[in-house]
Amino acid sequence: AREAALAAIAGAADLDQLKQVRLAHAGDRSPLALANREIGALPPAARKEAGQRVGRARGEVNQALAARQAELEVEHEERMLVEETVDVTLPTDRLPQGSRHPITLMSEHIADLFVGLGWEVAEGPVVEAEWLNFDALNLGPDHPARTMQDTFWTEPAENHVVLRTHTSPVQARTMLTREPPIYVICPGRVFRTDEYDATHSPMFHQVEGLVVDRGITMAHLKGTLDHVAEQLFGEGISTRFRPSYFPFTEPSAEVDLRCFVCRGAEPAVASCRTCRGEGWIEWGGCGVVNPRVLTACGVDSDTYTGFAFGMGIDRAFMFHSGAASMRDFFEGDVRYSSAFGTEL
Ligand code: PHE
Repeated sequence: AREAALAAIAGAADLDQLKQVRLAHAGDRSPLALANREIGALPPAARKEAGQRVGRARGEVNQALAARQAELEVEHEERMLVEETVDVTLPTDRLPQGSRHPITLMSEHIADLFVGLGWEVAEGPVVEAEWLNFDALNLGPDHPARTMQDTFWTEPAENHVVLRTHTSPVQARTMLTREPPIYVICPGRVFRTDEYDATHSPMFHQVEGLVVDRGITMAHLKGTLDHVAEQLFGEGISTRFRPSYFPFTEPSAEVDLRCFVCRGAEPAVASCRTCRGEGWIEWGGCGVVNPRVLTACGVDSDTYTGFAFGMGIDRAFMFHSGAASMRDFFEGDVRYSSAFGTEL
């Protein structure tokens, strides 16, 4: 039994095996333990000698167990040190860094230009009261121009809530809550039931501007927009003001930018995919604030006049970057955004 135990101990390859060996050869039911128990049954003369032999054997086995245990523990530790070594020079699974959307960058860039002129940034909700989106802006219920704006209505209809079709309701919100002089800019999302194509999307971005002060004229409007266009698109950019109509401004104009692709070459480049030979791209609408709007929003129209404009931010960005299609803006592919970095 002693030889068998010592051989098994030497053969134990790891701590688990040694545990089994200990149970089998030194446990309560091991041959040596049984032998120890049988000593009492021997004739007294034989007991002493048998007791010494069994005792010695058990001692040797226990010693061998302890020695092997120590050996295996050292081995185990060494193996762990090797196996669990961390190679700090290996590349890590880096999380890809997110990126700011170029339209966000453009919005902030435009807002910064106006803040630089001393204007403030105003905000309004995208889910808007019909009254603020239309009525306050001289677009009464039966006004024909209401149908010009392809509106998303929310249910139930009797709540009179729309997805704002332009940022102009922020004009009304501002006049209702602030006293003139007012110089505010409001960039934001707007919604229209437009088909989705290269230059249209049912959700797009506008930046609204509103000035209400004493003695404000169309000249201030023109000067401001020309200055900002130059800041945005570089010196030498041409703008064009075309007479137009908006119920909330009088007189009204539409502002065009020189086409950034064909640059309005003469004779006209009819094949230009961006302006289709027009030489100009529409940027937005503007005008002198209609006194009826001032009155509806609680501003004294005898004392104050103002100007307002609403420009397309997506268009401005297309112009700025030469992007051919608006679609890439809203597909949510981070690879598109990351190409523009963190600043325009
Ligand atoms: N709200 C108009 C539009 O979306 C633009 C505009 C704003 C025109 C302010 C005049 C004054 O088309």
